[in-house]
Amino acid sequence: MTEPDPEPQDDALAAAASPMLADEEEGLWEAGYDPAGSGLASQLLAASETGDLLTFSRLLIAQAAPGLDDSAMRVLLAQTLLRQDPTAERHVQAVEELLGAVPPPRPSPYRWPANAPIRARMMLGYMYRGLGRDEEALAAFRQCFHWRPDVAECAECLAFQHERMGDAAAAAAVRAEHAALMSQTIRRLPRWQPPEPAADPRSMYLDLLERTLCNVIYGDTSHSSYGDTVYDPARRETGRDLPTQAHSMIGLTRLRHLRWAMETVLAEGVPGHVIEAGVWRGGACILMAGVLAAHGAHDRQVFVADSFAGLPPPDPRYVKDLATLHDFHTRPELAIGSAEVAENFRQYGLLRDNVRFVEGWFSETLPPLRDQTFAILRLDGDLYSSTMDTLVALYDSVPPNGFVICDDFGVVLDARRAILDFRKERGITDNMFAIDGDGIYWRK
Ligand SMILES: C[S@@+](CC[C@H](N)C(=O)[O-])C[C@H]1O[C@@H](n2cnc3c(N)ncnc32)[C@H](O)[C@@H]1O
Repeated sequence: MTEPDPEPQDDALAAAASPMLADEEEGLWEAGYDPAGSGLASQLLAASETGDLLTFSRLLIAQAAPGLDDSAMRVLLAQTLLRQDPTAERHVQAVEELLGAVPPPRPSPYRWPANAPIRARMMLGYMYRGLGRDEEALAAFRQCFHWRPDVAECAECLAFQHERMGDAAAAAAVRAEHAALMSQTIRRLPRWQPPEPAADPRSMYLDLLERTLCNVIYGDTSHSSYGDTVYDPARRETGRDLPTQAHSMIGLTRLRHLRWAMETVLAEGVPGHVIEAGVWRGGACILMAGVLAAHGAHDRQVFVADSFAGLPPPDPRYVKDLATLHDFHTRPELAIGSAEVAENFRQYGLLRDNVRFVEGWFSETLPPLRDQTFAILRLDGDLYSSTMDTLVALYDSVPPNGFVICDDFGVVLDARRAILDFRKERGITDNMFAIDGDGIYWRK
């Protein structure tokens, strides 16, 4: 325990008030004396001279908590001002300035960004609401909800604001979307049970094909954009890493599920070809081609649909696409050319006549396939637009008992929103099942 500071003595007070001492101190600053380094002392001095309490506090916070990023610091400072006096004119302006300068959430491949930007918009919303500036409150809450419709506070604030402004229908729509996103989260869905492994040669070939496609055999490292690069069998099982070499990123469980769906379709005689929209290195499609070959189902084709140039940027046709917190379109590691994918098929001896490459953006390449029948429609385009475009183009091409599989439902909110919006628009009530923590499927 440290000693308490001594009570100030009269002498010390007198000295502190002495202009002489202040001058001497200024001399020290001018001579370059800067105990904190990087000009901090002179910035503090400048702020103190102009009485700029805000700047002064920011500088001090930055010094005291260097781990705190700029956005978090702005949020804390704004919060302090609001708690002190939420209506004082100069505080309102300072809060607007502080929080208005917090940049939007930084997109990331899979991990959610820090929530300071969302917090900043929420606080602005609360402040505007308190001041009766309803339109601005609505805009702030709407932005939060677009970013995180799954967060209760974002949904409730926006819904309440709509009600306050007399729009009960809009409030109900917000609450309904939030409730759907939460009630249909993947952990609440019934879970698919994988079949027991069998020991006949065909089953063993397909087992080996699955294991090879996601390379649990040699266990390659993960790309650094997905966090830890070390090979982790548990992550590879559930497709939670981005393999540097394996031909599929969807993991062993979802590959096994795809094989089960293929074999179910063959066993039950569900008519049609099979398609994946979003193939990356082609692994899931290679598995589908392998299942067809192993079962001698030569009359069915595998449609391999991709831009072969990565994901598109957010699409202005969809407000929800623009709100994405992911930056997949900026990632070169997701852009694999068609020649490389074809070569991967060839390596497995599966580049056969029944494999059809469909190259280009889904919005352009999939509508012309509408007249085909697809016993399996596998969606793996991650984005709201990519998922919605695929469903709009091809859902009606899936026959009764056919499979609709979405790879990204659990972990990519955009894909989940598109699936739920489409099901709602079309009145689809077929039960959804969770494959693992990410993938879902339903049968028509
Ligand atoms: C997550 S990866 C697919 C992973 C793959 N299914 C596997 O087995 O590893 C997503 C792929 O979707 C493609 N994609 C996403 N949106 C697209 C769109 N709108 N049009 C064309 N391709 C798209 C990307 O080029 C990328 O190859």
